[in-house]
Order: sequence, then structure tokens, then C-alpha cells
Amino acid sequence: MKALITGGGGFIGQHLASELLARGDQVVLMDIGFHPGQLGPLEGRVATAVGNLALFTDVLDAVRSHRPDSIFHLGALLSASAEENPIGAYHVNIDGSFHVLEASRMFGVKKVVYTSSIASFGPGVPDPVPNECDQKPTTMYGVSKVFTERLGEYYSRDLGVDFRAVRLPSILGAGRGGGGASAYSTFLIDKPARGQPFECFCEPRTRIPLLYVDDAVRALRLVHDAPRAGLKRCAYNVQGFSPTAQQMLDAVKAKVPRAEVTFKTDPKMQAILDSWPRSLDDSAAREEWGWSPTVDLNGTIDRYLAVARGATGPGAAGGR
Ligand SMILES: NC(=O)c1ccc[n+]([C@@H]2O[C@H](COP(=O)([O-])OP(=O)(O)OC[C@H]3O[C@@H](n4cnc5c(N)ncnc54)[C@H](O)[C@@H]3O)[C@@H](O)[C@H]2O)c1
Repeated sequence: MKALITGGGGFIGQHLASELLARGDQVVLMDIGFHPGQLGPLEGRVATAVGNLALFTDVLDAVRSHRPDSIFHLGALLSASAEENPIGAYHVNIDGSFHVLEASRMFGVKKVVYTSSIASFGPGVPDPVPNECDQKPTTMYGVSKVFTERLGEYYSRDLGVDFRAVRLPSILGAGRGGGGASAYSTFLIDKPARGQPFECFCEPRTRIPLLYVDDAVRALRLVHDAPRAGLKRCAYNVQGFSPTAQQMLDAVKAKVPRAEVTFKTDPKMQAILDSWPRSLDDSAAREEWGWSPTVDLNGTIDRYLAVARGATGPGAAGGR
């Protein structure tokens, strides 16, 4: 299979590329640009396409010249950048999704797999959030995720593009950037693993759903490969584990007793975190395409510790 990954130079895109290469797929990474060394061990093993998702001509060029069987549509402005630049987010995340789906229809791409988010749900949702639940986000990022889910369903039903989305929680793993409200979950593990102090900006009671990057990639691969006949919908909740910040710290301290973590709440960050789901019901994904996570909180901490001790490679050191 030939797969094109939009946003392929990013955190999840590079991990996904490694997974697809390992099973013998051809991989094309499309991104707004690549800096020297960015692709690490992927260099020379993948094709690249430089292009802006916000420009239909760029997306058409990439799909026309590479003719992928499937597109994994990951390219986006993430939550913090989207709220700082909502107009830019509209063009990249909303126009960009239309461009990907329409180019797929025009050039006969068989499947489009999309990374939606827990941010597609608004505040006040039940705990756990069921797969089918009102999606009334209060952010441009969340709106763009709901838009793409619905547009993808339309293309799937009426225009012959087989669209599948997973609603990812906050993803943990080395190589993940430090921006956004969910970054506390990365720093709570990564900083102690590196022997650095961390002042955690949320309250110890804070709880959001988390998933290790290897499992995020596994979810994308599983939902891509699932026979359509077994799928009853286009968008699926997935999650790994859902500890409080205090429970995370306790688990880190069990492995890194000298961890120096203090809590000092940033009310703005706390308000964002409090508007997100606490946990997701992912039973539809489990029943329809065999989803289950393989890495728990302790396994995640072990992997961060391995990276801090100098292990390398995708899934350990990450691609960037
Ligand atoms: N990381 C998480 O915790 C998380 C959680 C839920 C959903 N997601 C979703 O997963 C996807 C990938 O996230 P990530 O963590 O790898 O983010 P990332 O920022 O590392 O990767 C996104 C990539 O998109 C590219 N991009 C941005 N604007 C572009 C444009 N105009 N044209 C082409 N490429 C452009 C960026 O250069 C970047 O390489 C995103 O759709 C994100 O919304 C991520």
C-alpha cells in the first residue's frame, strides 16, 4: 500500500510512518516544510511532498503526483496555535480537510483516516463520554475537528471516499512538543525522567484521558485496516488511561523517588483542562475494529525513562 500522511513531519506522523514502513508500506510525508535532520531515521526511507494544506493546488499536486491508496490526514494547527490564530486554523484545519477529501474523491484515493480529538466535545459532557454524544466545542480547534468528522461522513456516504476518524486523547511520547494545556501530562513524566524540576500548572485533581503514542499509531493502523462491513460509523473514541495529575506524580515517584514536582495552578490552563472530557467510552472501537491499548501509565513512564537514559528510535526517542 502507498500511504500519504499529511502533517507527516510532525510528532504522530513520524511515528505512524515508522509503523507503516515496518510492515512494508510505501510512505509519503506531506508537510508545510521539513528542516534538515527533522526526519531522523526516516530520512531516505520516505518520499516527501512540501505543500500547504490551506492551498487546494498544493494538496492536488501532492495527491496527483504520488497517487496514494490511502491518506492519513494529520496535518493541522494544534489546540493552542489554533486559538492564537483562529483564521489561520480555519484555513488549515477546515479548508485543508475539504481539500484532502475532495482531492481524494478526484484521484480515487480509497481511504482517508483522520485524527479527531477529545476537543471535539465541549464542556459539560458525561464521564465517560459515550461515542455518540453532542459535540458542541467552544474552540476553533474543536469546531474544526467536528467539521472534518461531519464532512468526512458526507464524503463516505455520498461521494465514495471511505473516511474513518479516531478521536484521540492527549498523546504522550518522546518527541511531543510542549505547547498547550495538556502538556502538563508530558512534563509530569518527562522532566523527572530527565532529573529536572517541574512546576505543574494544573491542580492535582485534574484528570484527562491519555494515550501513549505507539497506541495512537496502532489505533490509526487498526481503524485503517478494518473491513468496512464491520464498521457502523465513521468516528470513534479511543483512550488509554485517565489518571489524575496527583496519581501520575505518585506513579512517577515510585520509579523516580527524587522527582521534584510542585503544583501552582494557572487559572487559564485549568479552565481549558476543566472543559475537556475526563475519560472516554471507547467500547465502539473495541467492538467494531478490535481496539485495545497496550501501554498503561507505568509502561509510559518506563518508556520515557528509557529515552532519558539514551535509547533511540521511533517509539522510544521519537523522530524529532
Ligand atoms: N498530540 C496530541 O496530543 C493530539 C491529540 C488529539 C489529536 N491530535 C491530532 O493529531 C494530529 C497530529 O498531531 P501531532 O501531535 O503530530 O502535531 P504536530 O504539530 O507535531 O504535527 C502537525 C503537523 O502538521 C503540519 N502542518 C501545520 N500546518 C500545515 C499546513 N498549512 N500545511 C501542511 N502541513 C501543516 C505541521 O508542520 C506539523 O508537522 C493533529 O491533527 C492533531 O490535531 C493530536
